[in-house]
This record gives sequence, C-alpha cells and structure tokens, in this order.
Amino acid sequence: MRVGILTGGGDCPGLNAVIRAAARRAFTRGHEVIGAREGWRGLVEGIFEELGPREITGILPRGGTILGTSRTNPYRLDGGVERVRSNFERERLDALVAIGGEDTLGVAAHLHEEHAFPVVGVPKTIDNDLSATDYTFGFDTAVSIATEAIDRLHTTAESHNRVMVVEVMGRRTGWIAVMSGIAGGADVILIPEHPMTIEEACTELRRRHERGKDFSIVVVSEGYELGEDQGEVELDEFGHPRLSARGVGDQVARAIEEKTGYETRVTVLGHVQRGGTPTPRDRVLATRFGLKAADLVEEGRFGRMAALQGDAIVDVTLKEATVELKTVPDSWYSVASAFFG
Ligand code: F6P
Repeated sequence: MRVGILTGGGDCPGLNAVIRAAARRAFTRGHEVIGAREGWRGLVEGIFEELGPREITGILPRGGTILGTSRTNPYRLDGGVERVRSNFERERLDALVAIGGEDTLGVAAHLHEEHAFPVVGVPKTIDNDLSATDYTFGFDTAVSIATEAIDRLHTTAESHNRVMVVEVMGRRTGWIAVMSGIAGGADVILIPEHPMTIEEACTELRRRHERGKDFSIVVVSEGYELGEDQGEVELDEFGHPRLSARGVGDQVARAIEEKTGYETRVTVLGHVQRGGTPTPRDRVLATRFGLKAADLVEEGRFGRMAALQGDAIVDVTLKEATVELKTVPDSWYSVASAFFG
C-alpha cells in the first residue's frame, strides 16, 4: 500500500510523534509512506514527499511538523475537492491519515461521506475541543506551558501588589484556561462557556483583597466575550476570526483596573503555547494515536478516527468527532470556581 499522511490546521506539539508511529507501523507491514505538504494544500496542489526511515528518525521529541501545515480548506477553493481526489489518484495513494482538529478532520469527514474517500483521522489540537475523545495530543503541553507562566506571574504579582491577567489560547472553548487556571491557582477564570461578567470578576477580586490578599491572577481564554461590539475581526483561511487580534486580555485588564483601581498588567501567551517539545504524556498519546491510525488503515476502516476514552485507545466516526465542539462542562468549571475570590 501507499499510505499518505498530512498535518493540517494550527501546529501542535506531538505531530511528529504521530507521523513517526504511523510510519513505523506502516513500514513494518511493508507499506510506503508519502507525506502531503502543508495539510490539504499538499493534496490540492499535488505537493508530496516520500517519507522513509531516514526522514522520520529523531523526530519524536521535536515540536512543529516535518510536513508543514496550513489552514487550506479544499471546500472553499474552486475545484478544490476534485483536485484533492485527482492528486490522490495520480500519486497512487491507497489511504490517507489526516492529523488535525475540527477543520482538517471536518474536511476528512465530508470527503469520506460524499466520496467514500479512504481517510482515517488523528485528533490534534492544543484546544482539546474535539468530541468523542477525552483528550487530544498537544493539550497537555499547552497546559504545562500556561501553568508555568502562571507560576512565574504569581511571584511578580505578589511583589508588586498587582492583578495579572493571563490570556491563553482556546478558540471557542476554555479548556486551556480552566486546566492551567486550576493547576496554577488562578483567582478568576474567564471562558466563553461560562460567561462570568467583568463586574462579577471584579467582585471576586475585591473580596480577595478584603481578605488581605493584595495580588490576584486572572486567566482569560482568548474566546471570552466581554459583551462589547468587537467591530471587524480579520478571518483566517478557514474563515475563523483571528482571536489574537481582538486583544481580549488587554480589554479585561483595562476594565479591571478601571473598575477596581487595582494596578493591573496583562500577559498574552499566544503561540508560545504551541511551540517546542511535547510533554511525555503528549508523546505517549500521539504515539498510541499514530499506531491506531496505521491499524485502521490496515483494516480498511475508513471514515474513523483514533480516540482516547478513559485510558483506552478506541476508534470513533470522523463525523461524531467533528459534528459539535466539546465544551467545558459545569462540573469542570465548578472545580476551578471553588477557588475564586
Ligand atoms: O486551534 C489552535 C489555535 O492555537 C487556537 O487556540 C488559536 O485561536 C488559533 O489556533 C491561532 O491560529 P493561528 O496560528 O493561525 O494564529
């Protein structure tokens, strides 16, 4: 078999670990592995590269992706889907492993449903917002980075009696904010799913200051809505608003300072959360997902995605993984809010 592999959407630590695991298992079975460059763009434009044992050596701990990535969506391009299918044929591929989040795997799900395209998925995203899997790889690394930042901000906040606002990623869900906030002991956490108002946040901060605590840490997810008109927001290739451009952390910090009079600073973690080497947990999860994807290909079980449920690697349909976002449930937010104020 000739097995194609692509990485699409925002990069995240652990992509190379998946590529290595899926390729190693495919080689063991005597298959060839072909990388498509930069996500779906590789298939749309017919840009491929052979992946042999030499290409995948030493990549397990490396962040980013050796195949490059993009947010190209064939469904938004004229003739995009037809080009994907004809380049797939021309390259004599028998199967495709798509490693991505809701966008990349959403394309895979549609291709499979509409054209019986032989694709299997691997759930990637630091946002941890894919359904039907308990965790995606990359999330643990992002949470570790954000937690370390919160720890560091604690010491300087305390020295200066300041409120420190930390803006973390997580486009439409607050998973990174909630988990790093719990781990870092945040005093207020603002996420899109649980719209605590700025006024309520300030009440928590005042309560804390009345208890004699002169500093506070506020974690805000980039997708949090302040309820004000945001005006025109730039869109990415997939049509999503570029949230970093909204500067929600800055707005929250300004509002807190205005309303409470406490000196406030903001730190935007941005792409630092996606860079660098994956944690051991992400390396292990990515490796297990890669092996599972190779097995799904071998068994011809297309339209499915490797997933983690409990501690077991299982498979689910691409459709159930992408049909709706996995948002932060009340049960998790209440763990975090038990420490507010
Ligand atoms: O989906 C992953 C993610 O990091 C989001 O958390 C964030 O909103 C977005 O990607 C940023 O995208 P870009 O790298 O295109 O700025």
